Amino acid sequence: MSIQTVHSTPFDDQRPGTSGLRKKVRVFAQPHYLANFVQAVFDAIDGVSGKTLVLGGDGRYFNDTAIQIIARMAAAQGCARLIIGQGGILSTPAASHLIRKRAADGGLILSASHNPAGPDEDFGIKYNIANGGPAPEKITEAIYARSREIREYRILDSADIDLSARGETNLGDCRVEIIDPVADYAELMAHLFDFPAIKALFDGGFTMRFDAMHAVTGPYAKAIIEDRLGAVPGTVVNAVPLTDFGGGHPDPNLVYAEELAGLMFSSASPAFGAASDGDGDRNMILGKHFFVTPSDSLAVLAANAHHTPGYHLGIRGIARSMPTSQAADRVAEVMGVECHETPTGWKFFGNLLDAGKVTLCGEESFGTGSDHVREKDGLWAVLFWLNLIAARKETVEQIVRGHWRRFGRNYYTRHDYEGVDAVAAKGLMAALAARQNGLVGQTLAGRVVAYADDFSYTDPVDGSVSTGQGLRFGFEDGSRIVFRLSGTGTVGATLRVYIERFEPNPELHDLDTQAALADLIALADELGDVRATISRNVPDVIT
Ligand code: G1P
Ligand code: ZN
Repeated sequence: MSIQTVHSTPFDDQRPGTSGLRKKVRVFAQPHYLANFVQAVFDAIDGVSGKTLVLGGDGRYFNDTAIQIIARMAAAQGCARLIIGQGGILSTPAASHLIRKRAADGGLILSASHNPAGPDEDFGIKYNIANGGPAPEKITEAIYARSREIREYRILDSADIDLSARGETNLGDCRVEIIDPVADYAELMAHLFDFPAIKALFDGGFTMRFDAMHAVTGPYAKAIIEDRLGAVPGTVVNAVPLTDFGGGHPDPNLVYAEELAGLMFSSASPAFGAASDGDGDRNMILGKHFFVTPSDSLAVLAANAHHTPGYHLGIRGIARSMPTSQAADRVAEVMGVECHETPTGWKFFGNLLDAGKVTLCGEESFGTGSDHVREKDGLWAVLFWLNLIAARKETVEQIVRGHWRRFGRNYYTRHDYEGVDAVAAKGLMAALAARQNGLVGQTLAGRVVAYADDFSYTDPVDGSVSTGQGLRFGFEDGSRIVFRLSGTGTVGATLRVYIERFEPNPELHDLDTQAALADLIALADELGDVRATISRNVPDVIT
C-alpha cells in the first residue's frame, strides 16, 4: 500500500456553518472536494498522527464513499486508530459518546442532519473535538482558512475497508475497529434512566409510537425501546435507515413528521408519540392530541430531572439558545440555578457543560440534551419523557399543564421562510437593524420596547465573543420578536422569525398559539415589511 500525494486546488466555499459543512451531494462528489476539506480539518488540528478518531454518519447517500476516503486519508497521515460504526452508522449523540468513552482525540460525523438525502440532495461533514462536542468557532474558522490554501492531500492507495463486519483490521499502519453503533449508547441510557420503571410501564400496556423517519435512530430505538424496554414490536416505525431517508425530510416537527402527528391527533392515538431526525440529535414529543413545544420540553425536563437516576441529585444550571423561549429561565429562577443564553448552535454549549456550569441545554429547534454527551440527543429526550411519565404516573398533557400552572406559560412560535432570495433576505435584515435605532422606550402595538439589538455573546469560560447572532426586539412585558438568517441551509436564504409572550394566568393557558401571538406576529411582519420584501405571503413552516 502506497501513500499518494494528490494535487488539487482550493475551493472557496468550505466555511463550516451552524453545524459543519453542508452542501449538495454533487458538490461533495466533485473531484477532491471532500478530500480537500478533510485535509483542511487534519491540518487545522495539527495533523492526526498517533491519534484516535471516531468516524460514522447518518447513513445517507455518500456516507460510505466518504468514510472510505476519510479512512484512507487518516491512515496515510499516521492516525493510530479509527473507531467506525458498523455499516458506517453512528448517530450524532452516539458518536459524541464514543469520542468521550474511548478518550478519542476527536471524530468526524457525516450528516446533514434533517436535510433530505439522496444523489440530488444534501451531505455534510462535521469535526468534533475530544470533549465529544462540535468544534468551536476558533477551529472551524481555522479549517476554513486552511481550506483556502490546500494544494495537496495525502491518501492511502488501498482497497475499501469492509464496513459490514464488526472486528479489527489494519489499514496501512492504522488499526481500524468496526463496532456495534448501538451498544455503548444503550448502556449509557440505561445508566441515566429508570429502565425497570419504564419497562413496567410498557408491561402494563402503555402505548407509544416512535417514528425514526427512515433515518439513523431506527436501530437505536428498536434495540432500546422494543428489545430492552419491552414496547410491543412495531412501536418503532420507519426503522430501517435508507440512503435517501425514504424520500422524506426527517425533521421531527408537525410539518415534516406529518404521519406521526396525524396519528397522535386521531382517535387511534397511543399515549405517547416521538420522532427523531436524520442523525438522531433532534426530538419531537407528543401526547395524545397534545404537542409539546421544544422550549416547554426543556423547561419540563429541568423541573423534573430529580425523578431520573441520572439527574436525581439535581441540575447545576440550564442553557438555552437565544431564540428559544424563556420558559426554562423561569424554572432556573425557581430552582436557584444558573441560566445561560447562548447563540444558536450546539457548539456554544460545550464550554458551559465542560465547566460544569450547566447540566441541561436546549434549543427551540427540537434539540435537547445534557452533560452526558456534547451534542443534543433525540432518543435521550424521549427516554427522559418516558421516565417522567413512569415516575409521575401522569400523561404528557397533565405533566405540561401542571408545569404551566406552576411556572406560567410561554406562548411561542417560529415562522420560517425557506429558500428565499439571499440578497432580499440580507436587505431585510439590514433594514431591520436600521429600524432598531432609537427604538427603546417607544411603544409598538401597545408594548414598550425594552431593548432592540443584534445579539452578541461573550463566552463566560473562554471569553470569546460571537456577534451578529440575531436581531432582537424585546418588550417590557417579557415578550420578544427575534429575526435571524439560518446558517444550515444549502439553497438561497432561510429567514426565521421567533415570537414569544408570557402568560401567567392559568385561565388563559388554553389558547391556540397562533391566536395567542397574533398581535406580535402582525407586528413582526410590519417591522420587517417581511411579506413585501421577500415576496412571500405565508411562512413555509410554522413550528
Ligand atoms: C438550525 C437550528 C439550530 C440548530 C441547527 C443544527 O440552525 O435553528 O437551533 O442548532 O439547525 O441542528 P439554523 O438553520 O437556524 O442556523
Ligand atoms: Zn440533527
